[in-house]
Amino acid sequence: MKWIISNHKMNLTKKEIENYVDQISTLKSSNELVFCPSSIYLPYFQNQVNYSLGAQNVADRNMGALTGEIAIQQLKSLNVKYVIVGHSERRNILNETEEMINQKVKLILENAMVPVLCIGEKEEEINDRENILMNEIDSAFTNQVNLDQVIIAYEPIWAIGTGKIPTTEEITTITQMIKDYVHKKYQIFCRVLYGGSVSINNIDELNQVPNIDGYLIGGTSLDIEKLRVIIEKMEEEV
Ligand code: PGA
Repeated sequence: MKWIISNHKMNLTKKEIENYVDQISTLKSSNELVFCPSSIYLPYFQNQVNYSLGAQNVADRNMGALTGEIAIQQLKSLNVKYVIVGHSERRNILNETEEMINQKVKLILENAMVPVLCIGEKEEEINDRENILMNEIDSAFTNQVNLDQVIIAYEPIWAIGTGKIPTTEEITTITQMIKDYVHKKYQIFCRVLYGGSVSINNIDELNQVPNIDGYLIGGTSLDIEKLRVIIEKMEEEV
């Protein structure tokens, strides 16, 4: 089974999300479909017959006094199963630190939910890519238990929303590097997704990557018909 995780980011109005939710029921997949809408729309996604629910973020501490944040306990009460953590937009625009990311992973695992840990290098860091990725993994994984639940999303920052993607050879090599590193250091078999400009134009090419466990899809996931094409093309791979 593979994962097809839709990350809506800060998009869609109330009317648009209502239409979107109506159409989800028409999607069919033998893979795991996950939707991560804006948190204000999580209650719209309660009829989870053919998909699972994810959140785009969680607070780095338990429920209590923290204006504007959302606690893991609140997400859990809305049937959220997956939580994206360490997305580059949060790391770079909102200055989310490695300590916060580590704390979030801890809370997600403690609550028996699945962290989708995003890691990735900037364009100017490509030559140092392996070190960057290993450091991001280590900071998030330090002092954690039950890490076997974690999903890693490899998202090169230069590929997010740009239409550019690495070659299939590069993705294959990096995915294997991540899996081998995590297996050797943490004794777990980690699932690794690719994210960054996944679209109907490059999905055939991406599906050639032999060791990838699925995709984290941003912009394209806002259009349910485009998402349907991707879901169907992945069905051919099953
Ligand atoms: P994109 O975003 O598909 O729009 O490039 C992916 C992501 O940031 O998760």
